[in-house]
Amino acid sequence: MFNLILFGPPGSGKGTQSSNLINTFGLKHLSTGDLLRDEISRETRLGLEAKKFMDAGQLVPDAVVIGMIGSKLDENPQARGFIFDGFPRTTAQAEALDNLLQLKGTNIHMLISLEVPEEELKQRLLLRGAVSGRSDDNEEVIANRIVEYRAKTEPVSNYYEAQGKLERIKGVGEVEEIFGAIKGKIESFILPQ
Ligand code: AP5
Ligand code: MG
Repeated sequence: MFNLILFGPPGSGKGTQSSNLINTFGLKHLSTGDLLRDEISRETRLGLEAKKFMDAGQLVPDAVVIGMIGSKLDENPQARGFIFDGFPRTTAQAEALDNLLQLKGTNIHMLISLEVPEEELKQRLLLRGAVSGRSDDNEEVIANRIVEYRAKTEPVSNYYEAQGKLERIKGVGEVEEIFGAIKGKIESFILPQ
């Protein structure tokens, strides 16, 4: 099994690069943002509760997302590995993930951090907001998401750096070029399927 955390600020390309990776390596994509948006579109109780936080650019409580990830791990016992996208986003989530994986006899192999300057992030998200209409892609909420990222999420990379698992990649340039750099980092762990 190969388990990868794709890490980086809002708009750094985690979702974009995940699609390439799942196709090439046959990994199961677990994006807490996508899972939460799915709950919202189905108007579940969890979704209605999460929407308040997401629309304000704040993190959803740890217990909610940890519970969702726990269920998804249980639902996919045959997976070749997982790409965690947008999770873990706090040190408490990272510790919970390590425990969940340990119970399944596996662990996180690598965290790839996509490094993109703040101005570029804002431009990308405003552009996406204009096209896709994602409700948290407006100037005020983007600013809040970046503040939350710096305060609560960035420390997660230190947590995995202390375990010797952090790899940084420049997240600016052609999507294919960035994908090539990611492939280069993971190919010693897993081959394309
Ligand atoms: P989430 O959905 O995870 O959003 P995010 O982290 O803010 O990240 P994005 O999805 O906006 O960006 P991305 O890195 O995936 O970039 P993308 O590939 O789309 O979370 C949303 C909310 O849910 C949070 O604010 C929080 O409330 C809640 N939540 C989720 N997980 C949580 C958790 N674990 N704990 C607590 N709360 C949680 O790319 C962005 C744009 O840039 C696209 O338009 C793309 O086409 C473009 N692009 C990509 N790559 C390039 C490139 N190389 N060059 C130019 N453009 C590019
Ligand atoms: Mg995303």
